[in-house]
Amino acid sequence: MSGCIAAPGDKSVSHRALIMAALAAGESRITGLLESEDVLATARAVAALGAGVHRDAEGWRVVGTGGQFRSPDRALDLGNSGTGVRLLMGAVAGTGATADFTGDASLSSRPMARVLDPLTAMGAGCTSTGGRLPARISGGCLNPVDWSPEIASAQVKSAILLAALGAAGETVVREPAPTRDHTERMLPLFGGRVEADGSIVRLTGPQALTGTRIEVPGDPSSAAFALVAGLIMPGSAVTLTGVIANPARDGIYRVLERMGAKLARTPGAVMAGEDTVDLAVESSALRAVDLEAAIAPSMIDEYPILAVAAAFAEGESRFRGLAELRAKESDRLAGTAALLAANGVTVRIEGDDLIVSGMGPAGAPGGGTVITRGDHRLAMAGLVLGCAAKSPVRIDDAAMIATSYPGFLDDMRKLGARMGTA
Ligand code: S3P
Repeated sequence: MSGCIAAPGDKSVSHRALIMAALAAGESRITGLLESEDVLATARAVAALGAGVHRDAEGWRVVGTGGQFRSPDRALDLGNSGTGVRLLMGAVAGTGATADFTGDASLSSRPMARVLDPLTAMGAGCTSTGGRLPARISGGCLNPVDWSPEIASAQVKSAILLAALGAAGETVVREPAPTRDHTERMLPLFGGRVEADGSIVRLTGPQALTGTRIEVPGDPSSAAFALVAGLIMPGSAVTLTGVIANPARDGIYRVLERMGAKLARTPGAVMAGEDTVDLAVESSALRAVDLEAAIAPSMIDEYPILAVAAAFAEGESRFRGLAELRAKESDRLAGTAALLAANGVTVRIEGDDLIVSGMGPAGAPGGGTVITRGDHRLAMAGLVLGCAAKSPVRIDDAAMIATSYPGFLDDMRKLGARMGTA
C-alpha cells in the first residue's frame, strides 16, 4: 500500500461541534465535519431541538438556540451513536426542553444509567427502560453536582459538563482516570469557561455560549486502520494528514511505536483546540506488547485494529483491563477475539484481558468470515486483516462502516488495498 490521504474528520469533535453550536447564540460554521451516520443523526437531532442546520459548499452552518432548546414532538433517534445520545441527554438536561431518546438495537442495549444517574442528581427528570433506551429527559432548573463516575468515560464527563452549562454554581467531575478532553478544549472556542486539573474538571454555570468557527481535525481512531494496514503489508509507505495528536487520543501511536512501528510524526495546524500531526508509516517488523490497563482510555476504540497488528507481531501480546470494550457498539472483546480466531490466529480472553499469539511477518492464514455484530470497527479491522492475510477475509456486513468512516473503502482502495463486494 502506498500514498497519502487526509484522515476523515474526528467523530468525537464533530458531535461536540454540532451540539455546542446548537446551544450557542448566533451562527457557527463547521468545516471538515465527519459526515458519517452517527454524526448525521446528531445533526438531525439538534435540528429537531430547534437549531438551524444547513449544509452548503463551504461546510455546515448552524444557527444556535441560545440555550433554548425546544421540545421535539417526536423521539430523537440517535441510531448507533453512544456519543450522540449521551452528550445530547446532558445538553437537553441543561435547557428547559423535554425530549425522548431512541436508537438502534445496539444502542438500545447499551448502559445509560451512567449518564442518567448524574443528570438525575442535578435535578433533571429522567425516565428510562431499566437504565436503557428509550429514555426521556426533562431539563431546566438544575443544581450543580460533584460527581465521581465509577468508570472513565468521556461521554459521561461531557454529558455532565453540558448539563452544567444550565446549572447555577460549580459542577465538578472527578474521573477515575483522565479521558479524552475534546469538550474541555472546545467549550472556550464558544466562549465557555471550564477548568481541568488532571482528572478533575470544574465548570461554573450558568454559562451562555456564542457561535464560532470550527475546523474539525482528523480522527485517530479511523486513521488507525490505514496505519496498521501500512505496517503489516510488506513494501508499504502510507501517510495520513491532519490527525489529532492530543495525548488523550494518541495511545495507538505510542503503542505501535512500542511494537517497533516505523512511524514518523510531523506537527501540523491547531484545529478545534487540538494539535494535529501528519503520520507516515512504513511496513515494519512488529513485536508483541504487554499493555497496561491505564493506557486504555487513550485508545479505547482502537483495540480491534491493534489486535490485528498484534497478530502480525512476533510473540504473545497481552492487552489488559478491557472490561469497557464489552459495553461498546457490540461486545468488542468477544468480537475481536472471534475475528482473529475465525482467521487462524490463536487468541484467548482471560478475565478482562485479551491475549493474541502473534504469527510474525508470515502473518495470519485468513480465509475466514468475520461476524461484525453490527459493529463498524470490527468490520474495518476484519478487512484490514484480509489485506495482509494469506487468504482473503470476508465480512458478513459492510453497511455499518458508514457509522464512522463512510469513505473507508475508497480511501483503502486509493492506497492500493484490494477490497470490494464479492
Ligand atoms: C467518545 C468516548 C469514548 C469512545 C467513543 C467516543 C466521546 O467512550 O469509545 O467512541 O466522543 O466522548 P467513553 O465514553 O467510554 O469514554
